[in-house]
Amino acid sequence: MVTGFGLGLRTEHYQTFVDERPDVDWLEVISENYMVPGGKPLYYLDRIRRDYPMVMHGVSLSIGTSDPLDADYLVALRRLAERIEPAWISDHLCWTGMAHTNLHDLLPLPYTEESLQHLTSRVAQVQDVLRRRILLENVSSYVAFHADEMSEWEFLVELTRRADCDLLLDVNNIYVSSVNHGFDPQRFVDAIPAERVRQIHVAGHEDHGDFLIDTHDHDVCDAVWDLYRYTLRRIGPKPTMIERDDHIPPLAALLDELAVARRIAAECAREVDR
Ligand SMILES: [Fe+2]
Repeated sequence: MVTGFGLGLRTEHYQTFVDERPDVDWLEVISENYMVPGGKPLYYLDRIRRDYPMVMHGVSLSIGTSDPLDADYLVALRRLAERIEPAWISDHLCWTGMAHTNLHDLLPLPYTEESLQHLTSRVAQVQDVLRRRILLENVSSYVAFHADEMSEWEFLVELTRRADCDLLLDVNNIYVSSVNHGFDPQRFVDAIPAERVRQIHVAGHEDHGDFLIDTHDHDVCDAVWDLYRYTLRRIGPKPTMIERDDHIPPLAALLDELAVARRIAAECAREVDR
């Protein structure tokens, strides 16, 4: 069981995790970085796994595409899971390409009954291969579909119910999408069933005034910390990590950000005790 506060394992910090065993409760690894045989990433993965619980986070499942699921990818994912025994496996509620072309972007889906039916059967296939429930993460978006029949949060909740999957709630992504689409981010959080949320991502973004881009290359801003606090008050404590993918700072800086998450969670816990 994984609880507490984690970080994403990044190449820049491999040696620091080996040498200094920093105070992190668990690590999230990008699945695709370890799905090739041999080499430095797998060496460090095995070495660091001895000291830390891990969870796996993928970017290539493309659960929403109209292409068939990639059976080879799923088997490789299962093999990696057998190797490091993660507490859970997550990917994104999105599509990343079609006609066997990977666009390397996490693209939003139309929130329709047709999408729900499509996704429900595909999540079942994935969960059958992996022999476990998966977590799907809400993505940031910049466009919406005219075909939408429901809100993103209604879609997420209904999908978890029908497919019996769990959620990785990305608080930054909720905030980014709320600004870009003009909805109240607290409405999104209010709709989410607490028991489905197994992990939270907190991250930074790029502020362009009237729109935001989910870059994961900045510190977490105050508005996202406020939404994190609101989320914990609403759904209780959840395993939380800082997600940083670019302009990777020294590990100490990420540990400082993680300390902010710990402090907010401690404050929320004290409110419950009162
Ligand atoms: Fe995320």
